[in-house]
Amino acid sequence: MGKGIGFGKVILFNEHFVVYGLPAIASAIGAKTTALVERRFGSGVEIRDERPETKGYKAEKAGQQKESLDLMLKFMNIDTSKSAYRVTLGGDLIAASGVGASGASCAAIARAFSEELGLNYSDEKVNEAAYEGEKGYHGTPSGIDNTAATYGGLIWYKREGSSQQMERMKLKKPVEIVMGNTGLTADTKAVVGAVKERKEKEPEKYGHIFKGAEELVRDSRKQLEAFNLNKVGENMNQNHTLLQQIGVSCPELDMLVDLARNNGALGAKLTGTGRGGYMVALTPGKDLQELVARAIEKKGFQALRTTIGI
Ligand code: MEV
Repeated sequence: MGKGIGFGKVILFNEHFVVYGLPAIASAIGAKTTALVERRFGSGVEIRDERPETKGYKAEKAGQQKESLDLMLKFMNIDTSKSAYRVTLGGDLIAASGVGASGASCAAIARAFSEELGLNYSDEKVNEAAYEGEKGYHGTPSGIDNTAATYGGLIWYKREGSSQQMERMKLKKPVEIVMGNTGLTADTKAVVGAVKERKEKEPEKYGHIFKGAEELVRDSRKQLEAFNLNKVGENMNQNHTLLQQIGVSCPELDMLVDLARNNGALGAKLTGTGRGGYMVALTPGKDLQELVARAIEKKGFQALRTTIGI
């Protein structure tokens, strides 16, 4: 039996912009996905998905999950016409949009197959396999989700042509955040595709927004490293505005973002694909975290209390 894990993540700056080569910042969150690979008689692969989920997520992603697994098996040279496997997914990361659920499951599956088949994959190789798997969910992934899922920690990520560049960042100490779940499942392929269409139609407008996003993420790295959390929060608010301008927010995300800000969060923005999924609020200290989380729960939404920079 082979076992593997993948880290859940939150994108703090520049989702979507990262698809076009701009830098982005992501952090692992406490939760993980686990995968278990067992050999069976016969042929083919069976997936047993025991992850906790946002209602409807697994059913909606079932087709993409199968496509993703096939891409990974091909990349790993695993022939399932003569051998059979059962893949069991578990762990405490919610299967939902916005927390890196697909990336985490891909990294966990690559690690579990590597252990079961004695492939001895390095993290780099796991990341490459997980990137193949992400193509099943994203179409043209930037690679940030599989990289965050494979390595964990706080990362600065940039895609240059076909190569992926990651640098580790350090926070003086971990910081509490709250992630609010809209309960809506987003289709990353469709949302990324729609941004591409709009960007091609309005190059000038998008050029201006992208320039702002590039400056913002560079400043945010400095502010995070200097532990200037008030400014990090302000920058998150600005990043949310830019994401609204490229059309990836939605009324539920905007409402949760406003709610978090009105309850004292230093900043708040959507995270990940948008159009549903999660938002993230910067809430240093247990008291502020609790205040914001409760305000979200009072409105009937799920709130995840976690930390960045672990
Ligand atoms: C999704 O978690 C992040 C996106 O930027 C897509 C990607 O980077 O592949 C929306």
